[in-house]
Order: sequence, then C-alpha cells, then structure tokens
Amino acid sequence: MSSEEFKPFALELYPENLFQRLAVGDLFGATESALEIDLGCGDGRFLQAMAEHFPQSNYLGIERLLGRVRKVCRRSERAGLKNVRALRLETTYAVEWLLPRACAQRVHLLFPDPWPKKKHHKRRLMAQPEFLKSVADLLEEGGEFLFKTDHEEYFEVAQEAAEICPYFKVLDWPEDAFFYAETDFERQWKEVGRRIQGLRLLKTSV
Ligand SMILES: C[S@@+](CC[C@H](N)C(=O)[O-])C[C@H]1O[C@@H](n2cnc3c(N)ncnc32)[C@H](O)[C@@H]1O
Repeated sequence: MSSEEFKPFALELYPENLFQRLAVGDLFGATESALEIDLGCGDGRFLQAMAEHFPQSNYLGIERLLGRVRKVCRRSERAGLKNVRALRLETTYAVEWLLPRACAQRVHLLFPDPWPKKKHHKRRLMAQPEFLKSVADLLEEGGEFLFKTDHEEYFEVAQEAAEICPYFKVLDWPEDAFFYAETDFERQWKEVGRRIQGLRLLKTSV
C-alpha cells in the first residue's frame, strides 16, 4: 500500500468522536447554506454534479467503501469544489446516531442495494420504519427525502412503506420538476433499458 493511501483528503470528514452527535458546524463550518445528504453515494457522480449545479448549497456523501469515499474526494478536489464532503460510515449509524438533527434540506437515497434474496429483505433500508423516522429527524421542516431504484419489487415495498409512514407525505415527482443529476448506477441501468422509479417525500410535522 502506498503512503498516498493513508493521506487524508481535505474533503473527507473525520469526526473526532464517533459516539457523540455532530453539530451542524462540524460538517461545513459556520454557514447558512442549505445542506443535502446523499446516502450510499458510491463514486459520487450525483454529488459532484449537484454541487456544481448548486454552488450555494452543501453536499455531504455517506459511503461505507473507503475506495469510493476517496474517489469522491479526489474528483471533487480536482474540480475545485468547496461544497462537497464525504464521510466513510454505515448509513443507518450515521443517520440515527451521528448526524445533527434537523440539519438537511434534502436527503437522497439513490439506487440502494435492493437485497433481492428473501432472507435479506429485512436489510432493505426503505422497509425499516425506524430508518424512515431517522431520515425524518435529519430533515428540516419542509425538507424532502428522495429515493430512486431500478428494482421493481423494492420500489413497491418502498412506496407502501412511504404511504403508511406518518413522517412523510408522498409528492408528485415529474421529470421536469427540478434539476436532478443522474447517478452512476442510474446511467448504467438506463443503458440496459431498465425502468427507473422514484419517490419524493415531504417531511410532515407530526
Ligand atoms: C448500488 S450502489 C449506488 C451508488 C450511487 N448512489 C449511485 O446511484 O450510483 C449502493 C452504494 O451504497 C453503498 N452502501 C450500501 N450499503 C451501505 C450502508 N449500509 N452504508 C453506507 N453505504 C452503503 C455501497 O457501497 C454502494 O456504493
């Protein structure tokens, strides 16, 4: 392993204490800018394109694979982006225990692992009521949670979960509603003709 692999990236977040909830200022410093969080950001194509398109907002990617986190940081640093950070951590831990409450204007979960085998269905994030509650806690009032998948059955499960979830209201999401960058996986699935479906969920005040 070269010494370069140990070199911290300026855009990678290294929380000092993983057992204490972060403050908003720990993410991007003192700022009034809106925050968007991409859960399972992969190589970060979406994150980078959004950060370029909306330079006034901040973009945090959460990803468990080190190589992908480093790629996000390397690419964003090369592109001169100051509004991107990546955190190497497991999504549910970050959402439930580490990230500040009511900090994000939008949270994105794009093409998460669909766990197709029946014995693994309980690992699907959207099928876990406590996960949806944690995402709602992460959002500001009026914040939105956006989900996309190419997996027909996972979409149906997610839609049902969203419809009965007291913390969200399902909104229409026409293609031209707003600029929304393509992800790496979305591009791959579109190339092979897979149908992409999405959910746009508005946090409700309960
Ligand atoms: C299918 S890929 C999609 C990546 C990206 N969102 C896209 O659409 O191109 C799923 C990503 O989520 C990451 N991932 C899966 N489970 C995770 C978890 N529990 N915590 C953090 N990242 C996770 C994987 O490492 C992978 O990069």
